[in-house]
Amino acid sequence: MKVTVRETSDVSTAASELGRMHCSCLPSSLVSRLGLSYAETVYRYCTKSKLEVVFAASLQDTVVGGAWLSLEPSSLSRRLLLRTTLVPALLAHPRLALEWIGQRYRDAQSRESNRTATGYPEVIAIFVDAGHRGRGVGAQLLLEIEGFLRKRHVAHYVLRTHDSPENRAVAFYEREGFEEFGRHQKHGTWHCDLIKAVGPRNGEQAPSAGQGS
Ligand SMILES: CC(C)(COP(=O)(O)OP(=O)(O)OC[C@H]1O[C@@H](n2cnc3c(N)ncnc32)[C@H](O)[C@@H]1OP(=O)(O)O)[C@@H](O)C(=O)NCCC(=O)NCCS
Repeated sequence: MKVTVRETSDVSTAASELGRMHCSCLPSSLVSRLGLSYAETVYRYCTKSKLEVVFAASLQDTVVGGAWLSLEPSSLSRRLLLRTTLVPALLAHPRLALEWIGQRYRDAQSRESNRTATGYPEVIAIFVDAGHRGRGVGAQLLLEIEGFLRKRHVAHYVLRTHDSPENRAVAFYEREGFEEFGRHQKHGTWHCDLIKAVGPRNGEQAPSAGQGS
C-alpha cells in the first residue's frame, strides 16, 4: 500500500474530507459533537492559519487519514472562538457550551499551577480511516509531523489521549516513543499527557540545547 502523507493547504477538498473523517474517527471530541459543518469550518481555518498545520494521508487520490498539529495550542481556543463559527455552534448546543466554558476554566487553573506543559507544539488530532488502520499510516503521519518540526528546530512535541484501558491509541503512542508526563480531566474524562523528543534523522546531529521548545 503506497500512502503519501503531505502537509496540506488545499482548503476546498482536504478540509471537508478531513472534517468528515475527524467526526467519524473521533466521535467523542468536542469538534465532532458540535457537528460536521463545524468540523469542516475548523479544518478550513487550520489549513489557512500559520499556527496550525494539517497533514493528509492519501492512497492514490483518496484521503485515508489526517493529523492536526497546533504550533501554539495555548491560544487555540481563543482563535477558534474568534475565527471560526464556534460561537453559533456553541449557542446551538447549550450543554456543550457549558462544557466548553468549564474546560477553559480548568485549563486556566492548570496553567496557573504549572500542572501542564506549555509552549510545545501539540497534536490536537490524529486519525486513520477504519478500513486502513493497522498498516502503518498513523506511524507515517507522525513521521511527517516530526520531519516538519525537525526542520523548524523544535525539540519536543506533545499530545493528549483518553486514559482508559480500552483506548488502543495508548499502545500506538508508546510504541512510537511517547512518554507520559501528566494527567488531566477534559470534557469529563481523564486524559494522559504524552511527550516525545523529535530525534535527529539518522546520521544527523541532535538540535543543540535551547533550540525550539
Ligand atoms: C490511532 C491511529 C491514528 C493509529 O493509526 P494506524 O494507521 O492504525 O497506526 P499504525 O498502523 O501505524 O499502528 C498500528 C497500531 O495502532 C493502534 N491501533 C490499531 N487500531 C486502532 C484503533 N481502532 N484505535 C486506536 N488505535 C488503534 C494499535 O496500537 C496498533 O498496533 P498493533 O497493530 O500492534 O495492535 C488509528 O488507529 C485511529 O485513527 N484510531 C481511531 C482514532 C484514535 O484513537 N485516534 C487517536 C486519538 S488520541
